[in-house]
Amino acid sequence: MANTVPDISLNDGNTIPQLGFGVYQIEPRDTAEAVGRALEIGYRHIDTAQMYGNEAEVGEAVRASGLDRGEVFVTSKLNNGFHRPEDARRAFESTLSALKMDYVDLFLIHWPLPTRYDGDFVSTWKTLEEFQRDGRARSIGVSNFQVPHLERLAAEADVVPAVNQIEVHPYLTNEQVRAYGGEHNILTEAWSPIAQGRVLDDPTIVDVAEQVGRTPAQVVLRWHVQRGDIVFPKSTTPKRIEENFRIFDFTLDDTAMERISGLDRGEAGRTGPNPDEFDYIPA
Ligand SMILES: NC(=O)c1ccc[n+]([C@@H]2O[C@H](COP(=O)([O-])OP(=O)(O)OC[C@H]3O[C@@H](n4cnc5c(N)ncnc54)[C@H](OP(=O)(O)O)[C@@H]3O)[C@@H](O)[C@H]2O)c1
Repeated sequence: MANTVPDISLNDGNTIPQLGFGVYQIEPRDTAEAVGRALEIGYRHIDTAQMYGNEAEVGEAVRASGLDRGEVFVTSKLNNGFHRPEDARRAFESTLSALKMDYVDLFLIHWPLPTRYDGDFVSTWKTLEEFQRDGRARSIGVSNFQVPHLERLAAEADVVPAVNQIEVHPYLTNEQVRAYGGEHNILTEAWSPIAQGRVLDDPTIVDVAEQVGRTPAQVVLRWHVQRGDIVFPKSTTPKRIEENFRIFDFTLDDTAMERISGLDRGEAGRTGPNPDEFDYIPA
């Protein structure tokens, strides 16, 4: 079985590689090297954000790779401090100039911030619609949106988000939000897919890994892709960057899939903030 990363169709006709490379918490000074390594191994999808502070180094690594711009899918996300339309427009320009690119493949509202900006994420979303119309964002989407937030966009905006990037891993399977996406043609992107390492020594995961002769991280990432979600594990360790890429040359049977899904702890399994309450704005 060849290890080939599938391309998945988005609701706007574009496609996205199902496996990417996440760069959250990678220091700017380490980013170009890590992304360069990922591109060498075969990753063709990088997930960054304005708040990660490393967009410039992502752009640098893509250029240094010698790959054509069109061969690499690049996502970035709007800083929480810039939800007002005029701020979002300026911030989006700063993303393109940091990346030194004339478009991004996907641009997301990073957090809904329902307790900020008078609860108005709709005008922010309509500003992202502008970026898509003028071609500088090939696709647009949201991140950390709960079902009521998605319902509000459906009622008040024209464009359906291509993706919703949310926390998903075996301890927080986030079924309700995923199901809404499934019913409305919004792909789920699973962030912190290995729960920042916390699920890797779970006895069930270790047991499944032994049965299939793979590592715990590979088994968890494989569980995500078999559920149809998009993943972009982060690592600055070369061996792990490679390990996380080798997940398309084996399969998990239904029993293994169900055992892993059965580890869900609901809200108690969350490792990151609750999107209904999160209101952080960088200084
Ligand atoms: N939209 C959002 O609000 C949001 C929030 C969080 C994350 N994200 C995105 O999702 C991406 C992934 O999430 P994440 O970075 O939080 O966590 P993650 O990918 O679940 O886990 C990363 C951690 O696991 C370790 N690790 C990676 N591969 C491993 C392996 N094969 N074996 C053992 N340990 C391994 C890494 O260590 P080393 O680096 O030391 O190898 C790192 O400490 C982010 O980079 C970002 O792009 C988005």
